[in-house]
Amino acid sequence: MAVILGIESTCDETAASVVVDGWDVHSNVIASQVELHQKYRGVVPEIASRAHIENILPVIQDALAGARCTLADIEAIAVAHRPGLIGSLLIGVTAAKTLAWALGKPLVAVDHVHAHLYSVCLKNTNDDRPLPVAATPRVAPGDATHGVAAMLATDAPDPRSPAVGLVVSGGHTSLYRIKSWTDIVLIGATIDDAVGEAYDKVAAILGLEYPGGPIIDRLAREGDPSSISFPRTMLERDSLDFSFSGLKTSVLYHVRGVPKKHASPVYVEPPTGPALNDICASFQAACVDVIVKKLRRAVAQTEASSIIVGGGVSANQGLRECLSTFELPVYFPALRYCTDNAAMSAGLAQVLFDKQRFASLDLDAVTRSVFA
Ligand code: KG4
Ligand code: ZN
Repeated sequence: MAVILGIESTCDETAASVVVDGWDVHSNVIASQVELHQKYRGVVPEIASRAHIENILPVIQDALAGARCTLADIEAIAVAHRPGLIGSLLIGVTAAKTLAWALGKPLVAVDHVHAHLYSVCLKNTNDDRPLPVAATPRVAPGDATHGVAAMLATDAPDPRSPAVGLVVSGGHTSLYRIKSWTDIVLIGATIDDAVGEAYDKVAAILGLEYPGGPIIDRLAREGDPSSISFPRTMLERDSLDFSFSGLKTSVLYHVRGVPKKHASPVYVEPPTGPALNDICASFQAACVDVIVKKLRRAVAQTEASSIIVGGGVSANQGLRECLSTFELPVYFPALRYCTDNAAMSAGLAQVLFDKQRFASLDLDAVTRSVFA
C-alpha cells in the first residue's frame, strides 16, 4: 500500500490530494482562482502564480487533514511539473521538492496531461476519509474503470490496449496512443485554440461568464443543434490535428455580423433566450462532431480497442452523450476529476512509484509536454 501526496499548480487551480494505491482518493482539495480571473475572462499568469503562493500550504494542510493523516504517513510526494504556466508550475514544484527533501521521501514527477488521462482510474468516492489500515484492491470488481485500471498494474498486453487517449481542456486538445501508463505517445493536437479555450472565448462573445464551458453546455440543452451550420474544420484527410479558431470566428461573425471595409464597428447586444440557446447548441454540435470524427480516425489509425477521455471538457454532457453510443468502450473520469485536480497526479505517480522512477531534487518546471 502506498500513500502518495499529490500537488497540482500547473494553471489556475492550487490542489493537493492524498491517494492510496493509485486510485483510492482520501482527500482532494482544490483552491479555485476562478473569481480572480473572471473579470479578465481568462487566466492572468502573474495573478495565478501569486495566488498559488498564498494557497499552496493551506491546501496541502487541508489535504492531509482530510485524509486524517500527517506528513509522516506519506510515502512519496508527486507533482505535475509539466506542461503549464511557468510561474504557476514553479510554486508546486518548489513545494514538492522542499517536502521531499525535508521528509527524505521520494519525489515523483508527472505530466499533467497524462494525469488527465489517468483520472479515469480514480475511484469515484467521497473524499475526506481516513487512510485505510490495509491496502484496498486496486481494481474493484464491477468498477466501471475495471479494464482501464488493470492496464496500469503491469505493462502486460491488455485486451483494451492500445487505447486512444483524448485530452480536451482549456489548454489542450490532443490525441494519444496509450499502450500503458508509461507508454503514451502524442498522435494529434490542436494547431490553434484548445476546445476549452474556444468555449471560453465564445462565451465571452455571447456575454456569458468565465469559464464558459459549463454554461454553454447547459444552455445547449435548450437549443436546436441544427439551427446554425457552423464550420467543422477537419484539416487534411488523415490528419489527427484539430483547429477551433475558424469555428470561434464564425460564431463571432454570426453574432456581430461580418466586418465591412471602412465601416466603424457597431456594438451589438449579445443574443438572449432561444437565439442564445440555439447558438450554444450549434457551436457545441460543431465541436462534438469534429472531436468524434477525429476519434474515429485515431481509432482506425492505431487499431485501438478502447478510448480514454480526460480534461475539463470531458465533463461536457453533449460529448458524453454522443460517445455513449461509440462502437468501442469509452472511459470518462467521474465529473469531480475532469477539471484540474491533484488526485490524478498522485494516482499516476503510483505507476512510477512501483517502477521506482523517482525524480531528483533538481527537477525543473517545464512549460511544454515532452510530446506536445
Ligand atoms: O482541465 P481544465 O480544468 O484546465 C486545463 O488544464 O486547461 O479545463 C478547464 C476548461 C475550461 O476551458 C472550461 O470552460 C472547460 O474546461 N469546461 C467545459 C465544461 N466544464 C469545464 N467545457 C465544456 N463543457 C463543460 N461541461
Ligand atoms: Zn488540466
